[in-house]
Amino acid sequence: MTIIENREHNIAARDDVADRLIAGSTRRSYNSLVDIDWDAPQDPDVFYMPRETISLYGTPMWNAMTHRERVELSRQECANMLSRAVWFENTLNQGLLQVMLHQDPTSRSVHYSLTEIGDETRHMIMFGKAVAAIGAKPYRLSLTEALAVQAFPFAYRGLMLWVAALCGEETIDDTQRTYLHSEDLQPIIAQVMRIHVAEEARHIRFAREGVRRRVQRASWLDRQFAATANGAAGFILQRLFYDKRVYERCGLDANEAMRQARANEEVSARRRAAFENLYQFLEENGLTNPISRLTWKYFGFL
Ligand SMILES: [Fe+2]
Ligand SMILES: [Fe+2]
Repeated sequence: MTIIENREHNIAARDDVADRLIAGSTRRSYNSLVDIDWDAPQDPDVFYMPRETISLYGTPMWNAMTHRERVELSRQECANMLSRAVWFENTLNQGLLQVMLHQDPTSRSVHYSLTEIGDETRHMIMFGKAVAAIGAKPYRLSLTEALAVQAFPFAYRGLMLWVAALCGEETIDDTQRTYLHSEDLQPIIAQVMRIHVAEEARHIRFAREGVRRRVQRASWLDRQFAATANGAAGFILQRLFYDKRVYERCGLDANEAMRQARANEEVSARRRAAFENLYQFLEENGLTNPISRLTWKYFGFL
């Protein structure tokens, strides 16, 4: 195959995937404004997260808490996770929009990107509404954090845009799937997660396809950057996992709670499991190297 034929073949394959995803989005998209019963009653004894995903689950601190205190911890951690999801999706949308300035506006792949941005903006509304609905206050970014997060879209270049999307979406998706099988979960949160898992499945397919296609024609430098920089996601995801403010709002000793949460083997095992599929995919595509492997390992994902 000549270079031009190869390029045309790649574009046709990309458009084919985009067409299928656009059709899927038309058939199955949700609008949380009408698809979620926001006024559904909330039983004060029911958890806001599957209990095994709560950072302190099984620790001495957890064992000393009453049932209602545990439920409150799940409510605060849930609000924290939802707040973080809002800004992550914000950065992804910015990345997609920036790349689009260099793309053909008639291409189906661009049309699917725009569809995905639409999904994400609806998700951001849904997450914001969910925080309010469960009666929690949002966890806002500090000025320094907001400035750091503002820089993310500039690192989403070439291959890295798709790798970054997968690092955020796949690890979180794995955790969210545990919500679908949890019997002891607030109905509002169960509905939010059902919608999110269904729509994110398309985004993950698109990002995986983006990685597979780009990795073939990416420059050595582009591949090396993505293979090294994905390890930074380990640092960010680990940082996201624990937030002192959650424990403060629950009236717990925040330093001790952080210590016990970080040492919690139960939760660490879950985190490693959540990363497994993505790690395999990165390996298959030559997108890991000693630096990123070391970083993922250091932050407890390997
Ligand atoms: Fe989303
Ligand atoms: Fe997404």
